[in-house]
Amino acid sequence: MSATPTDRFPDRPDQRPSATAATRPLLLRLLDAPVRWRALDTVAAPVRDLVRAAEPRWLADLLHGTWLGHPLHPVLAQVVVGSWTSAAAVDALSLAGLVPDDLADGADATSAALAAAGIATTLPTVASGLTDWAELHPDQQRIGLVHAASNYAALTVFAASLVQRWRGRTTSARWLSVAGVSTATLGAALGGHLSYRWSAGASHAEHVPHVAPEGWHRVAAYDELVVDEPVQGHVGDVPVVVVRTADGVSVLADSCSHLAGPLSGGKVTREGGEACLVCPWHGSAFRLADGSVAAGPAVAPQPVLASRVDVDGGVLARVVPVP
Ligand code: FES
Repeated sequence: MSATPTDRFPDRPDQRPSATAATRPLLLRLLDAPVRWRALDTVAAPVRDLVRAAEPRWLADLLHGTWLGHPLHPVLAQVVVGSWTSAAAVDALSLAGLVPDDLADGADATSAALAAAGIATTLPTVASGLTDWAELHPDQQRIGLVHAASNYAALTVFAASLVQRWRGRTTSARWLSVAGVSTATLGAALGGHLSYRWSAGASHAEHVPHVAPEGWHRVAAYDELVVDEPVQGHVGDVPVVVVRTADGVSVLADSCSHLAGPLSGGKVTREGGEACLVCPWHGSAFRLADGSVAAGPAVAPQPVLASRVDVDGGVLARVVPVP
């Protein structure tokens, strides 16, 4: 793989939250704080390397959600957090004395079942999150580590709550349940921040059909294209990748949907007999025919532009409106 963003731009203060830290709300500063904790890299690097080495591609793609066309981790996390939140809500009502005595046992049994359901769903949720995390860049990975630590803490607290309930110590079990969901909420906030502020899991190519100018644009000279060697062209200011194969010419957005790697620096391969373009950063493969994902970590397809060769031998491309 070629250099990833942080390899190429080892220190870009303008890209870090420090530039406006003093003026941002306290909550955002807290959520961004792990980005500065470079000591976390000593943990992140070996864990990342271990995950990458240990998982076969089919398993990694399964856990990324490549087959689903959507990251799998937030779908599973919804089950965990939803179960724990429901359990804690029942326990909070019990602690507040709002559950009638004749329903108290049923409420405790319900809370225990919900807490157990959340714990049981933790394993695939952690596996999918870890798989996604291993392909992020270091800034994102630091936030991801704190996100994971918060959720491990919540898991521990909910497990302790179950033990206390099993031992008949109902009141402490309820308090632990409420404490557990508070910890899980911190983890969820960091996970949401990682997705929305730091764009982990979001498509980095979705904008292309919206910002590229309409109409046909010359992106390359057909005779200068070498078969199976991608080159970069532009539609207006928007970079695209032009690929000539034995079957014709394809033009896709150059910014990889996973983390914006330059597909024009990638290589052409065949996946299941179909021509694919492989990203140089983390190895996602996109089918040239329609931009669909043949291999992750990407889950979102790559925008494909309409293309044709004009009478002067120029390769023309035009953005296709989002259906
Ligand atoms: S940027 Fe990660 S696979 Fe392309």
